[in-house]
Amino acid sequence: MKVLIIGTGYVGMNTGVVLAYLGNQVTCLDVNEEKIAMLRQGKSPVYEPHLEETLQLVMNKIQFTSSYTEADIPNTDVVFITVGTPSLPDGNADLRYVRQAAESIAENLGEKFTVVVNKSTVPIGSGNWVEAIMHEHFNSNHDGQKADFNVVSSPEFLAQGSAMHDSFYPDRIVVGSQCERSVERLQELFSPILRQDFPAPPGLPRPEGLTEVPLLVCDLTSAEMIKYAANAFLALKISYVNEIGRLANKVGADIQAVSKGIGLDKRIGNRFLSAGLGWGGSCFGKDTAALVATARDYRLEMPIIESARAINYGQRVLAVDLLQEKLKILKGKHVALLGFSFKPNTDDLRDAPSIDISKLLIQRGALVRAHDPVALTNARSHYGDIGVVFCNEVGEALKDAEAIMLVTEWPEYRELDWESIPRVPIVDGRNFLDRERLEGLGFPVIGIGR
Ligand SMILES: NC(=O)c1ccc[n+]([C@@H]2O[C@H](COP(=O)([O-])OP(=O)(O)OC[C@H]3O[C@@H](n4cnc5c(N)ncnc54)[C@H](O)[C@@H]3O)[C@@H](O)[C@H]2O)c1
Repeated sequence: MKVLIIGTGYVGMNTGVVLAYLGNQVTCLDVNEEKIAMLRQGKSPVYEPHLEETLQLVMNKIQFTSSYTEADIPNTDVVFITVGTPSLPDGNADLRYVRQAAESIAENLGEKFTVVVNKSTVPIGSGNWVEAIMHEHFNSNHDGQKADFNVVSSPEFLAQGSAMHDSFYPDRIVVGSQCERSVERLQELFSPILRQDFPAPPGLPRPEGLTEVPLLVCDLTSAEMIKYAANAFLALKISYVNEIGRLANKVGADIQAVSKGIGLDKRIGNRFLSAGLGWGGSCFGKDTAALVATARDYRLEMPIIESARAINYGQRVLAVDLLQEKLKILKGKHVALLGFSFKPNTDDLRDAPSIDISKLLIQRGALVRAHDPVALTNARSHYGDIGVVFCNEVGEALKDAEAIMLVTEWPEYRELDWESIPRVPIVDGRNFLDRERLEGLGFPVIGIGR
């Protein structure tokens, strides 16, 4: 099929590359011309394992543009909207990019039936809103012509760091539409993924036993709600274990043993049960805030989700408090932060715990040096002014450090030459380091909930 992707961020690039790999003719459009210039050279503007390698395999099936006219919408079968939907100060999602994309699509529609799939995470009800904007915009640009398109919701569930894997081998695909033509077209487009009958790309082997992926077809509003409800559930699972971790710390239990014991119960499962600094990233914070804001429109409270948010952001303060308790005085102390991205295998810093932690440490008088294997370019360009010294080498961050805080569980931090590092207190914000070994070497190690 001929597919157009609007927005070449983490979601758009993965979707585009996967659909091109499956044999479709894909155009990726972004208003950011710098990104388009990079992509035309086969370079990914975001760091995501396997993305650039797979992109280079499909360069003959994919093209890049920043022009809606060049994108040839009249001959396109499916248009995906994958633009950002960041948070507004009141928690609602900022839909300005979705509106711009919808208007530009409507302006350029032709006579052929087009399916417009919204993959951006948008507040419940936004699919209808997009359709209404498109009709309005189409009518004011196409005198007397009748628009032939349908807006579908197909939320994205990928996780950064394993986005390519998650896109080729998803747990499910959700299609929210009551238009038979749209559902049939998407069923056909997604059929290699649903049937799992494509050759696995290099470096991304198919999970053992995966022979098909379930497709859930439902109404548009339910599809939009599934995305928010799923993210909120994962977020509160993390906050739940962090709340239990706080009590574990008081009563002298070890949250890692407790998590293991809980997670072995198949009804609960062991994922998203690691105590630590909590979630960050572009989704959980903004999506839980948007869900609470939507409920507010209906004069409904969401106390479970609001508590999950409070616990999550409290973990960042807790980590600094733990360090302060150990050092007594933070003023003038050199603290090395290991990791700045919100999780390993990404360069994304949106809502990263490292930012709040750095600001809090600096506010309490500490001197902060931070290292990250891939996020330093982003860190310098977005957070160059918060007072953190960003270090290209981990040794530079550790030099003269009077305390260490592990913020992101990049595997290489486990493998540091710990024997050569002065024995200063370590706050292991992810319960990730080899605590026994480090304690054996003489490091005082403070875990979270341990
Ligand atoms: N990142 C994730 O892990 C993830 C997972 C699931 C869902 N989502 C959702 O997917 C959406 C996209 O997220 P992302 O992380 O890929 O965002 P992103 O910020 O990385 O990318 C968005 C891109 O859209 C482009 N854009 C903005 N307005 C445009 C327009 N009018 N026309 C063309 N391009 C335009 C921007 O330049 C940017 O490159 C969000 O709604 C997000 O909540 C993200």
